[in-house]
Amino acid sequence: MKIKVAKDRCGKLLTSEPVIVITTVDKDGNINGATFGSYVRVAPLIMVAIFPGHHTYGNIKETGEFVVNLPGRDQIDSIMVFGKGYPEGVNEIQEAGLTELKSTMVKPPGIAEYKAHIECRFKWEKNVGSHMLVAGEMLAGSCDKGLLDEEGYFDVVKAGILHCVRYPEPVYISPEKYTKGKR
Ligand SMILES: Cc1cc2nc3c(=O)[nH]c(=O)nc-3n(C[C@H](O)[C@H](O)[C@H](O)COP(=O)(O)O)c2cc1C
Repeated sequence: MKIKVAKDRCGKLLTSEPVIVITTVDKDGNINGATFGSYVRVAPLIMVAIFPGHHTYGNIKETGEFVVNLPGRDQIDSIMVFGKGYPEGVNEIQEAGLTELKSTMVKPPGIAEYKAHIECRFKWEKNVGSHMLVAGEMLAGSCDKGLLDEEGYFDVVKAGILHCVRYPEPVYISPEKYTKGKR
């Protein structure tokens, strides 16, 4: 037997992508960080649904750059710090007690304690209703030593990557093990 799922809940049938924190700077160099769960990656692009009132959106439109950062289980509490609304100009990396990581190709820093970082440049945007779908080209990446397996794949189990399945009372799932399929 099947039961109906309401139209506005259909998206919840698809587990989210890993939760990310996007770091940006404004035109004066003030650093901002915010949590995002709604995005799609189709290399070389990442497309993030960003509410246009967010500082993240304003900063990306102002500077054209952003960094995608992946927290692990050890940084779980910081996710909601980056999810809180702070006044403009507040550096949420400092608020979360974390450290800036110098980027290689863009001005916004990454978050040093986080597991992986992708430096991005704004490409295009599309209005998708309440949010803007903001596409960035992934330019450069880095991750903690020991988190790439022998074939160069990111080890999401070791990194303790988190997917947010409920919000605003957050519930996360994280991959516990790999299951090998048949070719
Ligand atoms: C787990 C989680 C997921 C979130 N996902 C999104 C999202 O996909 N899009 C969005 O616009 N806001 C999302 N938010 C809300 C923003 O993180 C929040 O409003 C933040 O304060 C925006 O900060 P800013 O104004 O500094 O950009 C999410 C928050 C949390 C905690």
